[in-house]
Amino acid sequence: MKLDIAVLSGDGIGPEVTDQAIKTLNAIENRFDHNFNFQEGLVGAIAIDETGDPLPKETLDLCKNTDAVLFGSIGAPKYDNDPSAPVRPEQGLLKLRKELGLYANIRPLKAYTTLLDQSPLKREIIEGTDITIYRELTGGIYFGEKKISEDGNVASDLCEYSRPEIERISHLAFQAARKRRNKVTLVDKANVLESSRLWRKVVTELAASTYPDVELHFLFVDNAAMQMILNPSQFDVILTNNIFGDIISDEASVIGGSIGLLASASAGTKYAMFEPIHGSFPQATGKGIANPIAAVLSAAMLLEHFNLLEESKLINEAVEKALEFNLTTPDLNETNPLTTDNVGDFIAHYIVSPNEALEKFKNVNLGQSTVI
Ligand code: IPM
Ligand code: MN
Repeated sequence: MKLDIAVLSGDGIGPEVTDQAIKTLNAIENRFDHNFNFQEGLVGAIAIDETGDPLPKETLDLCKNTDAVLFGSIGAPKYDNDPSAPVRPEQGLLKLRKELGLYANIRPLKAYTTLLDQSPLKREIIEGTDITIYRELTGGIYFGEKKISEDGNVASDLCEYSRPEIERISHLAFQAARKRRNKVTLVDKANVLESSRLWRKVVTELAASTYPDVELHFLFVDNAAMQMILNPSQFDVILTNNIFGDIISDEASVIGGSIGLLASASAGTKYAMFEPIHGSFPQATGKGIANPIAAVLSAAMLLEHFNLLEESKLINEAVEKALEFNLTTPDLNETNPLTTDNVGDFIAHYIVSPNEALEKFKNVNLGQSTVI
């Protein structure tokens, strides 16, 4: 298959982890005889520095003229502590989501058997956890009207949702549940928020009319946050709005042992983008300690999107091997960590030649070699 892929690696650790995703896709190209063509675009703080705009028009055009977008991360400390900054890197990402119509953000999460003791949560709590979060991505409080009073002392953000916005993401969540364990949990705050009551009404109606075979549960977001760390294996598909999905998915990442493992896909009717859920981790930039696995798994989600299932499965297998043999960065392996680049090398090598890669790894493990 021939694919044109826009690469927006962004800020902080974005470029170094995205390099590993590209390395992985190059290995897939080799092994399966595909043709992937990568074109880079500027986004985020680096784009502000170079052009004054967190999403320059050329970048947006590039995304619209390619088959998929591979995204790194954005954000820089100089903006985080400056609420009065007139332009912010995050605006680039939000505009990109809106312009490409990426209304569904899909965030899979599982407790890898080999990492059960890495999570700060007890093994018996997280064992068997396998959740996919469907987060609405182009509406709600992120995109509602924002106001600030003239004196600057009163501010508001409107959380607005329409029936079609709720329906289109809900369809995807129900359809995903049918291929999994047939259970959807709607996370909302319907005891307080009018917009959440609309979600409940629309989702209930849709379940009754179109997905009567799927089990539907409801949880208030405060309770869901608690359940997520008390008994996460109760969840199958979580369906939720933009801001609740943002918060709950960071919380859920603790289950996997590292936020550096979580990938995501953002899809609409026309375009699709793939990105790790972690941020730009500025303190780690350039040190070779960032975990590239979330970026690599985002590349696997990209392939899955184009129905390259065998390819995507192979990437997942390579990642599982890296985790099994502790070929990981310091977030998961404090004593004998690999660099970001070396984790990528192992995964790419495994894809082309599994046995050879594992053989080389044994040497690393025995301290006979430091390079894979
Ligand atoms: C995410 C991020 C973004 C969000 C930020 C960077 C705007 O936290 O993708 O989860 O809040 O959606
Ligand atoms: Mn987030």
